[in-house]
Amino acid sequence: MDVMEAVRKRHTFRKYTSEPVQAEDLEKLLEAARLAPSGMNLQPWELVVVTRPDRRLLLMEACNNQSFVADAGAVFCGVDDPGAKWADVDLALAMEHIVLEAVELGLGSCYIGSFSERRVKELLCIPRDRHVVMLLAVGVPAGKPRPAPKKPMGKLVHWERYGGRR
Ligand SMILES: Cc1cc2nc3c(=O)[nH]c(=O)nc-3n(C[C@H](O)[C@H](O)[C@H](O)COP(=O)(O)O)c2cc1C
Repeated sequence: MDVMEAVRKRHTFRKYTSEPVQAEDLEKLLEAARLAPSGMNLQPWELVVVTRPDRRLLLMEACNNQSFVADAGAVFCGVDDPGAKWADVDLALAMEHIVLEAVELGLGSCYIGSFSERRVKELLCIPRDRHVVMLLAVGVPAGKPRPAPKKPMGKLVHWERYGGRR
């Protein structure tokens, strides 16, 4: 699959079968994250991978009861060092590498920005000085995605100067 095909095929999935994500697929997803770009190459992020159903259920509660969190075979919790420059950006880039590799592997994904940081930290034993930026659910999709509407190019892109047209 070429990159643009993966980009076009990627959609947020919020329904998963309860099948696990295979160990070799987890390795590929994590390797994709590891190779992501990073400001000054600090790589100031870490992931906590949650696969056990009982722990995903607890995580679901910490994620404002978003039910897909319990169903997805794997949930990646993205943690960073808030003191490092561009830490959140770096983490987001690593997560998006996972998302695109998931497309290649026929898996679906959904970012999770709605969660209680205090609860997630408690559940996953994350140290106080770390920041939980976001989580990412990855799993075997149940059904087809509903493509989200995207803004037209003209609303997003300026040419040569702000307000400039092509
Ligand atoms: C930073 C971030 C946080 C998000 N948090 C959630 C969330 O908590 N729950 C959810 O169902 N979707 C969440 N999403 C998914 C967005 O709703 C989704 O990306 C958007 O509707 C566009 O759909 P698409 O990903 O299919 O293009 C989040 C996405 C991003 C990038």
